[in-house]
Amino acid sequence: MNRREFIKGSIALTAGLMIDPFGGITMAESNQKWWQRTVFYQIYAKSFNDANGDGVGDLRGIIARLDYLQSLNVGAIWITPIYPSPMVDNGYDISDYTTIDPRYGTMSDFDELIEEARARGIKIIMDLVYNHSSDRHPWFVESKSDRSNPKADWYIWRDAVDGHEPTNWRSIFGGSAWTWSAERQQYYLHTFAKEQPDLNWENPAVRRALYDSARSWIDRGVGGFRIDAIVYIKKPSKFVNGTPDGADGMINIHTMTANTDGILDFLHEFKRECFDGRDIVTVGEANSVKPSQLKDWVGTDGVFDMLFEFSHLGLGIENEVWCRPRRWKLTELKSALTASQQATAQNGWYPIFFENHDQPRGVNQYFASDADPIKAARALATVLLTMRGTPFIYEGQELGVTNVNRSSIDEYEDIQTHAQYEFALKEGLTATEALECVQTRSRDNARLPIDWSKATPVNNPVLMWYLELTDFRLAHEELLSGTYKELLPRDEQIFAFERTLGTKKLITAVNFSTSEAKLPKSFAELKILLGSEHNPEPLKLRPLEARIYRG
Ligand code: NOJ
Repeated sequence: MNRREFIKGSIALTAGLMIDPFGGITMAESNQKWWQRTVFYQIYAKSFNDANGDGVGDLRGIIARLDYLQSLNVGAIWITPIYPSPMVDNGYDISDYTTIDPRYGTMSDFDELIEEARARGIKIIMDLVYNHSSDRHPWFVESKSDRSNPKADWYIWRDAVDGHEPTNWRSIFGGSAWTWSAERQQYYLHTFAKEQPDLNWENPAVRRALYDSARSWIDRGVGGFRIDAIVYIKKPSKFVNGTPDGADGMINIHTMTANTDGILDFLHEFKRECFDGRDIVTVGEANSVKPSQLKDWVGTDGVFDMLFEFSHLGLGIENEVWCRPRRWKLTELKSALTASQQATAQNGWYPIFFENHDQPRGVNQYFASDADPIKAARALATVLLTMRGTPFIYEGQELGVTNVNRSSIDEYEDIQTHAQYEFALKEGLTATEALECVQTRSRDNARLPIDWSKATPVNNPVLMWYLELTDFRLAHEELLSGTYKELLPRDEQIFAFERTLGTKKLITAVNFSTSEAKLPKSFAELKILLGSEHNPEPLKLRPLEARIYRG
């Protein structure tokens, strides 16, 4: 058995065995759940791997890459929505929660994926999109048909106010968050696109239907869920106008409805009905839950196992508006991550991620434009895979994929890219300036087909580094269950922290800048266990250099 196979043995441990091949602390002793000791990998279904050659990724394409993912020490795969969808928002507009979209395969392909993954110690995590459905979902078609059908109250309907939209809320994808239905002669609310009407969670029948579909996937063998846009499910008791935040006279709906009081009551019920007593993992997407509120959301009294919160994303723009760039400092990134670490230090758990299908590529988002992309990708990987929490690698991140600029707005597919482009024009930017903004931020940057010819460790230094780091993480109990303490918090070049378990300590130091950085003298005594460069200088980190020391 070579070392890699040996380490894979420790993944089996995450699935319930208590023998630790490294003679360290076993899972039972560490009292951790499998998902706290697992490297997760996110797949954007459409662009991951196309097995049947129709230009769209599919389930058989995922099955074909399971060996690759296993060699990367991946123990769970979150797949973005693969349910039937008109694809207005690439699958986040679902027209049937209970089955698989034929473009991705069949239910039996899905069952095979679960089995093949299980055989490799990998769990499949599904995406639940329960804030809204597609406007083509039969529930909405019925709901909009008149005001007295059995589903009349399944969505959020309001009369016009003085012949206009009930409030001045702007949807996240641009334009009013209210759309008029000529059929029903009322407005319906949509936090995202008009083709994504918000479900009415106040209606117990809606909640029951959603819980039923979640349970059906658990019965099919999924290992858990990533839960989309969950902070929007509870609406305020009164719908009022807000102070406009843009030239269009509207206010972002997020400001008016995110994380409304009472939301946790719904979520406790959701947990009781679907997750309690089942060995699955739940990760909520929770833009706007603050570190101080994390205790109510994750941990002993929480509603999910982990939360994707957004405090370290979008540092380069104001209020998530792509055309309002801002300068940011490394200390902002470090303190955002450290605050979440501290909030979950005693209770709760944290998913570590820098990329997903909604974000620009990490190399472009977190490093200067003159940064060497390979070194930058390796630097970010080092933080991702040595922090406390569960690391999520986004497809292609391990291959060093970077943003790709398109030369015209027409070449962009993503609905939000078009919305942000239009918003920028309304704000007075020229077409060229608006295009530059979307080039930097477009979600298409992360959604292009993966070029699998790049996936050989021999030719790809980023992949090589990911393989080494995931091996290293799983072989070091300090990284799996040790504490986190930030070092050099005021340093604007170096991201450094220590991970401690009992008397054992590891220290990570990564130079995020494109110039040389000085380490404090105390680092001279430390032994380097893993380094991204052969650098003989003990107290100088080269641009983008990453090191892991024995502390
Ligand atoms: C968050 C998802 O990650 C994003 O891709 C989607 O557009 C919105 N939620 C709406 O479902």
